[in-house]
Amino acid sequence: MYIPDQATAEAVAENFGTPTYITDANTLRNRVKEMNDAFKETPTQIFYAVKANYNPSILRTLKEAGVYGIDCVSPFEVELAKEIGFTSDQIIFTGIASSDEELKFVGDAEVVPNIGSLSELKRFAEMFPGREISIRFSPNIGLGEFDFVQTGGSESKFGIVGSKLDAVHEITKKHKITISGLHMHLGSGFYDSDAFDSAVELLAHAARRFPDVRSIDVGGGFGVRYRVNDHPLDLPSFAKASIKHLKELEKDMGREIVLRVEPGKFLVSESTVLLVRATMLKEKGPTHFAGVDAGFNTLLRPAMYGAYHEIINVSNPNDESERYEVVGNVCETGDIFNRDISMPNVREGDLLAILTAGGYGSAMSSNYNLRPFAAEVLVDGDETTLTRKRQTYDDIMQQFC
Ligand code: LLP
Repeated sequence: MYIPDQATAEAVAENFGTPTYITDANTLRNRVKEMNDAFKETPTQIFYAVKANYNPSILRTLKEAGVYGIDCVSPFEVELAKEIGFTSDQIIFTGIASSDEELKFVGDAEVVPNIGSLSELKRFAEMFPGREISIRFSPNIGLGEFDFVQTGGSESKFGIVGSKLDAVHEITKKHKITISGLHMHLGSGFYDSDAFDSAVELLAHAARRFPDVRSIDVGGGFGVRYRVNDHPLDLPSFAKASIKHLKELEKDMGREIVLRVEPGKFLVSESTVLLVRATMLKEKGPTHFAGVDAGFNTLLRPAMYGAYHEIINVSNPNDESERYEVVGNVCETGDIFNRDISMPNVREGDLLAILTAGGYGSAMSSNYNLRPFAAEVLVDGDETTLTRKRQTYDDIMQQFC
């Protein structure tokens, strides 16, 4: 987990201001290596779920470190992946509620879609007969940090359930479509490999019904640490579960099947902190508020999901501790980064680092309250590079007609 040292944080604040997302290139590289190592027993392709963080410098770093491809959910994500140098066969499109225009874009881009409904299947097959697709299967097992991010369950909008697979066959036969992959995604941020194991078993079972399957994709969702003292995820146990079912499938099918994974959080979350400055200290009733110069427009996860992010006082690390409610500068009561955290005394002007902010941090930010997106920097050894400029008033206004 990346935590910037005081000198780096002060230099970033001085040169680029706050709030700023700071990403450590070496942490990104280590995460890719960890994943490739865990799955090395069988040919495995990592498709980075770019929705977690679409900063092009991060994408380039992940590509150089050994990420095979990109999992996209929108046409612009496909465009970006191509611009970074990923080829069509290194891009998959896992859309939801896709319009005809989107399906046409994907087909024209020669990208294989992961199709999760009969509606999208019919429309894609009519537009692109004879093409190759992957099916997004719903194992009816949902996992993840919060209800909102559990995806594979029976009540979520995602995926095609087992009882509809006959209908899939009918449509694909009619339009001479080849099903080359079977995919699932259970949810985001899980830690329990037993439930994952059961879901992979169901996926591999379903794959036996598709004679042309060349890959199974077990999705993303591998959990990360939000507290410094959290245990790291036991990634090898997830790899073991996947490989076990894959090997059995290979035996039954009599040929090699490629394993695919689609991590977002696992690759980027722990690489990045959001550096903010304490602007307001205030006691109200029993609560010590520490107000900072960012809000849920900059990092939405705590306000949206009640997500926990540890916060470190970078400027004053050795002082006595106090309990704080760390709040943002958005004019809403729910703009809270952490309801109760013990930190060395916070003084006005101190720099605080909100940890594990690389996944779904800047990617989910907005201009609410007409505040600019934060700046972003990449730290690589001794070098610190600005990778995203802070927006100006004119940057925001020029979009309006
Ligand atoms: N594959 C598919 C099809 C997905 O929908 C997702 C995430 C991923 C892979 C990557 O999941 P990850 O490894 O990042 O957990 N905004 C929420 C997370 C939403 C995840 C949506 N889908 C959060 O901040 O926790």
